[in-house]
Amino acid sequence: MDIIFHDIHSDKPQKQEYLIELKQDMDIVLSGIRPTGNLHLGNYFGAAKNFVKMQYENQCYFFIADYHSLTTHPHPENLQQNVRQILIEYLAMGIDPEAATLYAQSDIPETAELYMFLNMNAYLGELERCTSFKDKVRQQPNNINAGLLTYPTLMAADILIHHADKVPVGKDQEQHLEMTRVFANRFNKMYGVSYFKEPQAYNFNRQLVKIPGLDGSTKMGKSTGNAIFLNDEPAVIRKKVMKAKTDAGPTEMNQQPPQEIENLFTIMKNVCPEDTYQYFREAYNNCTIRYGEMKKQLAEDIITFCAPIKERIDELSKDDAYLLKVRALGAEKARESARKTLREVRQIIGFGNI
Ligand code: TRP
Repeated sequence: MDIIFHDIHSDKPQKQEYLIELKQDMDIVLSGIRPTGNLHLGNYFGAAKNFVKMQYENQCYFFIADYHSLTTHPHPENLQQNVRQILIEYLAMGIDPEAATLYAQSDIPETAELYMFLNMNAYLGELERCTSFKDKVRQQPNNINAGLLTYPTLMAADILIHHADKVPVGKDQEQHLEMTRVFANRFNKMYGVSYFKEPQAYNFNRQLVKIPGLDGSTKMGKSTGNAIFLNDEPAVIRKKVMKAKTDAGPTEMNQQPPQEIENLFTIMKNVCPEDTYQYFREAYNNCTIRYGEMKKQLAEDIITFCAPIKERIDELSKDDAYLLKVRALGAEKARESARKTLREVRQIIGFGNI
């Protein structure tokens, strides 16, 4: 695929040269995020930080999965607002729209066409057995729509449309990746081609810390009320951290902290300077720790950490022209690859020939 470069940041010619030389032989990395709320520290350390690193070493597609979000029937205004917010936050965290292809799924209607083709070879039994579908059936018994059932084929279309090699996703998405491989192989077999390749889940949890919640749980989550959002105002961050769950304090030297305290240390390790972290670790170990003091420090360091991102979020929020440009550029780059795939798929299927 040819990479087209646009003049969004005309002051960065060296990087463009570097990219033109190297991008052709790179692995194709693709990941999507559903626009269901603001990004939090867990998203940053668990995913975005690596996206930023990967974007110069791979051919990356990062997209906002707004088709997927229709399964919950969002109000148009909320949908639009959420897509915009995720776009802003991806950019604020350092995704470079020139290096990576950053786009909204709904700007690539070819995805819907590939989804339809893949649905023809996806069987009710396998879709019903999918864990995420079974969970949804339990969670929203009054809205078990066909979009939920075929969520994995839409995800397969996202991935296969760009022939992705690596798909950075959490554990909960691995079954969808497995299904994508099944759909890809089935297509190949059905038409006697070796067209789609098998994408692999790319799990960087081993290199990166999973950020725990403030409530003692091991995972920070959007919907669980235990998250610090990159967009939170300092006062909100202070309030959340001061309310974080703690215990009555250590009673023995060098004892193993309970989960909720270990969680605070994990967050500290990521956002505080090393000596601050060590200071509180030692205070814990010799039973002199004061959680109030620790939380105050943690809150200030989280605020310091988030400040440049928050500043960028605020800046980008006022720059509609730039956001539109980014979105158009992403759509153009993604559509070039998607159109090519659909042209080839249509031909393989037998369309378009007299
Ligand atoms: N299902 C993913 C999630 O809920 C989002 C997603 C949609 C996705 N399409 C994708 C992730 C393709 C990776 C690749 O997190």
